[in-house]
Amino acid sequence: MAIQIKDTTASFRFTVPTIVKFGCGTSEEIGSVVKELAVKQVLCIYDEGIKNSGIADQIINQLHLEELQVVAFEKVTANPTDSIVTEAAEFAKEHEVEAIIAIGGGSSIDCAKAVNILLTNPGSIHQYEGRDTVKIPTKPLIAIPTTSGTGSEVTAVTVITDSKKSRKMVIGGQHCGATIALVDPLLTVGLPPAVTAGTGMDALTHAIEAYISKGASVMTDINALKAIELISGNIYESTSSGTNIEARSNMLLGSLIAGVAFDSAGLGLVHAISHPISSHCGVPHGTANAILLPHVLAFNGVDERVRRQMRDIASSMGLPIHGIDDQEIVKSIVEKVTDLNHKVNIPRLREAGVKKENFTTIAEDALKERSMTFTPRTATKEDIMAILKNAY
Ligand SMILES: NC(=O)c1ccc[n+]([C@@H]2O[C@H](COP(=O)([O-])OP(=O)(O)OC[C@H]3O[C@@H](n4cnc5c(N)ncnc54)[C@H](O)[C@@H]3O)[C@@H](O)[C@H]2O)c1
Ligand SMILES: [Zn+2]
Repeated sequence: MAIQIKDTTASFRFTVPTIVKFGCGTSEEIGSVVKELAVKQVLCIYDEGIKNSGIADQIINQLHLEELQVVAFEKVTANPTDSIVTEAAEFAKEHEVEAIIAIGGGSSIDCAKAVNILLTNPGSIHQYEGRDTVKIPTKPLIAIPTTSGTGSEVTAVTVITDSKKSRKMVIGGQHCGATIALVDPLLTVGLPPAVTAGTGMDALTHAIEAYISKGASVMTDINALKAIELISGNIYESTSSGTNIEARSNMLLGSLIAGVAFDSAGLGLVHAISHPISSHCGVPHGTANAILLPHVLAFNGVDERVRRQMRDIASSMGLPIHGIDDQEIVKSIVEKVTDLNHKVNIPRLREAGVKKENFTTIAEDALKERSMTFTPRTATKEDIMAILKNAY
């Protein structure tokens, strides 16, 4: 895999806040991993789906085998809100927990990260919106992802919905990441097809947006391109044959390294538009990104620099690139992503519950998103309205 265009003499900043243990069965190490931290009282944070899947009980049993004291907060919601974070943080303080274990997708991991911030830092979660605003070091946080999507297990970012303003706050930087991630493909085997599809397309979006981001570097490129290869090559198989361990493993590895890439490179226009779509219309994060991705790729593909980068993306997707001009390459990627969406049953925007009357608010809010600073082609409100119309 040859990366063709990044300047290897350019300076960059690259961080990964988390120790990663990847592989089938690694989640069974939870007891010994917590033991090594020399803590006794731990809090497990997860949602109803994780409870019903049996995964939470599985992890808690391992902790009991090591005679650790466990309390559980089971009420995480999708696109977790400030009020859930406040409630969980009060619960954690009441029980004087010494470490947190997040079990689940991005919603559970993000909720746990925000709770961890409030365990050692004063006030409400709102005051930490932005970058490097968390000053006091947090307690150990172990992330056990169960979706192949957000990469939150390795990012120094948590995304929390401000319920009064119906908008997503991004809190990131120092003291915001998990300490250790136990990344076990076996935990993703029971993920329902629709969640596999949406979260997988989210991961593909992370990798593509990281690769064309203004904040990309050689370090993020290597991870982004490998992630594109793994996710585009395995999303259909893992959605249609959930028990295929190789496909599940490739998806989880892909989403993990896509997280590594975007945590340092930043995201782009897809995420800037999908955040207000989720906050105003309740569309799952991954589904919203999947719907937008081909339309934003077509929009970005007009930019000459992006068009050249698309050759690398196409090559990672296994598409032919030799003797084909840049414009045709963009077209082939848009078609490939549209085809993947179709194969894994991603709906159109209107089928996902978004109404035309929501477009103006979504477009105005998208312009205020931090991801807009990384997107390679500047978008106006009218551009975003046109993208929404195309995706409708
Ligand atoms: N912090 C970051 O770096 C980052 C990056 C991107 C997105 N996010 C955020 O993450 C959230 C989305 O997370 P998500 O897409 O992983 O979805 P999610 O955590 O909301 O989970 C989706 C559904 O799948 C269920 N589920 C998860 N794993 C399962 C399993 N193995 N078996 C059965 N059911 C399972 C859950 O119970 C839930 O009902 C959004 O709030 C988004 O903004 C965070
Ligand atoms: Zn995302």
